[in-house]
Amino acid sequence: MKLILLGAPGAGKGTQAQVICERFSIPAISTGNCLREAVAAGTEMGRAAKGYMDRGELVPDEVVIGIIRERLQGEDCKNGFILDGFPRTVPQAQALEEMGVEIDRVLEIFVPDETIVGRMSGRRVCPACGASYHTEFKPSKKQGVCDLCGKQLVIRKDDQPETVQERLRVYHSQTEPLKGFYEQRGLLVVVEGQTEVADTTRLVLKALEA
Ligand code: AP5
Repeated sequence: MKLILLGAPGAGKGTQAQVICERFSIPAISTGNCLREAVAAGTEMGRAAKGYMDRGELVPDEVVIGIIRERLQGEDCKNGFILDGFPRTVPQAQALEEMGVEIDRVLEIFVPDETIVGRMSGRRVCPACGASYHTEFKPSKKQGVCDLCGKQLVIRKDDQPETVQERLRVYHSQTEPLKGFYEQRGLLVVVEGQTEVADTTRLVLKALEA
């Protein structure tokens, strides 16, 4: 299965991607995680991307298209993959088509802006493996420590309330048009994000297995 996850920042794409990749044994590719790794490693690409990310803006198309082009060559992508956070602009979606990638389904997780702003304040992430938690809705077993790799959890710099507002603005102006793009191609399915992570997961799996 070749799947795109769409949704506003904090809608729960990363959380659901972790579940879907286990269920279907396919890799989840998050351009956000790839970029954060590049920033942490201090690569040239990371240094160029950091300012955009910290301000809540999109990193230029050519950078993320390059990341995806290279990543999709990986052996582990042969049987499918989940794209979490890519494409985010119409030119990115067009580039994916030009690469000859045939997407099976585009799943939007819909969550209203008001709910998102509340959720982001409780998010904690693992800087080593990218796993995402929530202090209230999805706590780690040991407070402040990643269940998967034991590293200390951190608050993402772009989860500050003003930056979240900017990310939402960017989402509505630049990424939302992708819904029409994929609706025209008969690929879009919308799932409403629920208050409980497990309830959203149930709806997501039902939509994918239909
Ligand atoms: P990226 O990392 O992709 O950020 P995002 O899309 O803004 O998405 P998030 O990771 O914030 O949210 P999510 O939907 O995955 O939510 P999560 O599951 O964590 O990108 C970061 C930056 O990189 C961008 O701003 C941009 O600068 C750059 N970038 C990345 N891709 C790019 C591209 N293609 N083009 C250009 N620039 C790009 O959930 C959020 C929180 O809520 C968590 O704490 C979670 O535990 C909790 N939660 C989840 N589900 C529920 C639920 N049902 N109930 C209660 N809480 C829940």
